[in-house]
Amino acid sequence: NMDLLRKQRDELRDEAIAGDPAGVARQRAQGKRTARDRLDLLLDPGSFTEIDMYRRHQAHGFKVGDNRPLTDGVVAGSGTIDGRRVFVYAQDFTIFGGSLGAAHAAKIHKVLDLALATGSPVIGLNDSGGARIQEGVLALDGYGGIFRRQVAASGIIPQINVLLGPCAGGAAYSPALSDFTFMVRGTAKMYLTGPDVVAAVTGERVSHDELGGADVHGRRSGVATFVHDDEESCLEDVRYLVSMLPANNLSGAPVPPRRDVVDEPRPRLADIVPAKPNLPYDIREVIAELVDDGDFLELHETWAANIVCVLARINDEVVGIVGNQPLVLAGVLDIEASQKAARFVRFCDAFGIPLVTLVDVPGFLPGTDQEYSGVIRHGAKLLYAYCEATVPRIQVILRKAYGGAYIVMDSRSIGCDLSLAWPTNEIAVMGAEGAVDVLFRKELAGAADPDALRVSLMDTYADELVHPFYAAERGLVDDVIDQADTRTAIASGLAMLREKRAQPAPRKHGNLPI
Ligand code: COA
Repeated sequence: NMDLLRKQRDELRDEAIAGDPAGVARQRAQGKRTARDRLDLLLDPGSFTEIDMYRRHQAHGFKVGDNRPLTDGVVAGSGTIDGRRVFVYAQDFTIFGGSLGAAHAAKIHKVLDLALATGSPVIGLNDSGGARIQEGVLALDGYGGIFRRQVAASGIIPQINVLLGPCAGGAAYSPALSDFTFMVRGTAKMYLTGPDVVAAVTGERVSHDELGGADVHGRRSGVATFVHDDEESCLEDVRYLVSMLPANNLSGAPVPPRRDVVDEPRPRLADIVPAKPNLPYDIREVIAELVDDGDFLELHETWAANIVCVLARINDEVVGIVGNQPLVLAGVLDIEASQKAARFVRFCDAFGIPLVTLVDVPGFLPGTDQEYSGVIRHGAKLLYAYCEATVPRIQVILRKAYGGAYIVMDSRSIGCDLSLAWPTNEIAVMGAEGAVDVLFRKELAGAADPDALRVSLMDTYADELVHPFYAAERGLVDDVIDQADTRTAIASGLAMLREKRAQPAPRKHGNLPI
């Protein structure tokens, strides 16, 4: 009786796609799209293949038994972005508040398993009240299964979470374990314990937004990588991000890099960066000059803004650029800057994306606040990440590079493949004034005119130890280049390093100072 079965199937399909009209209306009234609308925006038109549409929960009792909606509150499957395969799931808040029970979790597990098996990026669109209370420990077990799969897939396929509604409790560990987290202002919220519990336990009164809104995680906690005003621009940026990522750690770049390097002078660079080492400028203007079409995707734009991490293309080749930002805190390294850059360096290394490091750094941020909070431990993350990275690594020293911060910012000593410096480079253990004060304390104290002596000693120090060719004479800088030639020099360096291979010695894993 095929006709009857077909009819039944079509009815079920229509029912699953239509969802619950009242729930859909409530969702729209909150300025949120439905799970299916979101997938339409994210994926190439007509490319979505759904799996597990007919799945329903198998729970009984406690306020759940009779109501068994199709999909169990998550739309799952696969589609393409600019023709490239991705796996996706989109939680549906109109069904049990998008909460996660055993069936819902099993669908996400399936998507993660298929993404890993096929070496494709996975994108989760989150909009959920968290663990489905009616399903008890099975819901918690479902989350554990997601986390375990995410960790197993980490460094193999890119993982992206997009928060378009609540993400409460243990659920927040899914975005935390992924490579990139997007949040939309106004609707996305993420916290381990909501405002009511916070009030009961600590007495603090905060709104959902103050506790875990997009800007909180974009600016303060660093949990969100990207923050957007609306769902459209957010999903558009997910597509842009995916366009720059390899499908997996073995697949290579999304577009083969160009073979020829043509001379492309960038005379504006010398105007953007003042020669005087303590004058600020925006490193993003430098980056815009160096990359194709001036286009780049900046991670964590407003968190740890004293360091800038972007994905961009140079001569068509996708690169990760890390740059000190002299516009914020004079570009010092601190705890958060180290964490931000370390994670980015590790991401790029895992996925074979070459690293370009733009150095203009006065040192680490001094102070009890930083020391007590373990800046040594956190700075070590960045150091570790660079030391371990086996992708092509190019360092460009624009101006100052002092002390430990010089070493950490991908110096030759920790393994960069090519170190370039502008004629304005100043590489030293410390600035002239500090150096003279340490070395000549007694002489300065006994001098008739200490200021004059200090100035003359500083000049000698600068002439002997920090002149533009000091590091190049010692092989710690490979070339001193004209500012205008930087783009061409980086492109040539990338071409030179393209076949770089690395065979790390076998070990279970290092013990990075996480
Ligand atoms: N388990 C089961 N059902 C849930 C749920 C959960 N974790 N979270 C939400 N729901 C249900 C609600 O009961 C409601 O069902 P109804 O339409 O039948 O009344 C529906 O989803 C919508 O939730 P509602 O509370 O009306 O939406 P809201 O937008 O006002 O609030 C939350 C959203 C997420 C803030 C709120 O639902 C909440 O606090 N949920 C619990 C979060 C939590 O602590 N989860 C456990 C984490 S491990």
